Amino acid sequence: MVASTSPSAPLITVFGSTGTQGGSVIDHLISSPKPYRIRAVTRDPSKASGKKLQEMGCEVVKAEISNKDDVERVMKGSDIVFVSNKGMEHGAATEMQHGKNMIEAVKANLSTIKTFIWSGIEHVSQVSGGKYNKVEHFDTKAGWLET
Ligand SMILES: NC(=O)c1ccc[n+]([C@@H]2O[C@H](COP(=O)([O-])OP(=O)(O)OC[C@H]3O[C@@H](n4cnc5c(N)ncnc54)[C@H](OP(=O)(O)O)[C@@H]3O)[C@@H](O)[C@H]2O)c1
Repeated sequence: MVASTSPSAPLITVFGSTGTQGGSVIDHLISSPKPYRIRAVTRDPSKASGKKLQEMGCEVVKAEISNKDDVERVMKGSDIVFVSNKGMEHGAATEMQHGKNMIEAVKANLSTIKTFIWSGIEHVSQVSGGKYNKVEHFDTKAGWLET
């Protein structure tokens, strides 16, 4: 099965498309009985996983989440956006900035975006009443929504 190319099919932009979460979302969309056009975001469309996504009918586009202009550009015309990223490898501040870039880009594309799916996780420090306060890669994901 391949992604739809019908202009009437909703366009979903998937960040983290070459990874576990984004890749799984794409697999499910393609096998869905409902047609979707899929824009798959990666930093390197030329790598094997990017080429595989092209063969699956995805529009594979290059973007670096640290770059606000990139993020805004690849969201253009999207009906739906799915976000998953891996900023924590560069520290909490970077991951928070990635989140801000996403939210700002969604705001700039509200004329088309109807659904924004953000794959987050609980703010562990808050829900544990401060007991567990060293799970930064959870807290930063929850922190996006507070920006
Ligand atoms: N897997 C899980 O079970 C799970 C559960 C809970 C939370 N999470 C969280 O979900 C996020 C993704 O997890 P994953 O397991 O799917 O990771 P993964 O398999 O390592 O994939 C990471 C994805 O993020 C993209 N990416 C990373 N840095 C990027 C950047 N600077 N700009 C653009 N794209 C970037 C990569 O794309 P390219 O390398 O192709 O550019 C890749 O597609 C992580 O933050 C993880 O903590 C994962």
